[in-house]
Amino acid sequence: MYCYTVLTNTLCALRELDMWTEISKQHPVFIKTVAKSSNIDLPKELINKLDKLNENFEALHKRVKEIIRRQPYGGVDWMAYLPLIQVRSLVETFLQYDIDFLNVLNQVKNYGRENKVWQTLLEHIIHEQEYMYRLFVTLRNQMYTR
Ligand SMILES: [Fe+2]
Repeated sequence: MYCYTVLTNTLCALRELDMWTEISKQHPVFIKTVAKSSNIDLPKELINKLDKLNENFEALHKRVKEIIRRQPYGGVDWMAYLPLIQVRSLVETFLQYDIDFLNVLNQVKNYGRENKVWQTLLEHIIHEQEYMYRLFVTLRNQMYTR
């Protein structure tokens, strides 16, 4: 995010997590698929890291979906139903995974340097992971002041 995002309730933070964990879990799969079809030979160690990131984001996505599913509907005060500390811990887990992913992306970029399409895809993914990092830091920081 570039504009400051105000945390209005816990559900909006969960919905951001729902969307961005889904996108984040897809990114390692795109990277692996495009590398393979472009004959970019990523080392086994990086492939394993990408698989692990996919699993981590997937597991977090499932937890978020389950929590959203259990919430009551209607004009309720979400803060009253869902402890802020629980959502904050999900956001902190996301931030940790995102940092791990950005580190892995920096390593992946060293492969296929001459392939412009591949490098553009990686840049796109890096920008997106950085964007969500800023968003969740902003949301997380507001969870400490309430
Ligand atoms: Fe994208």
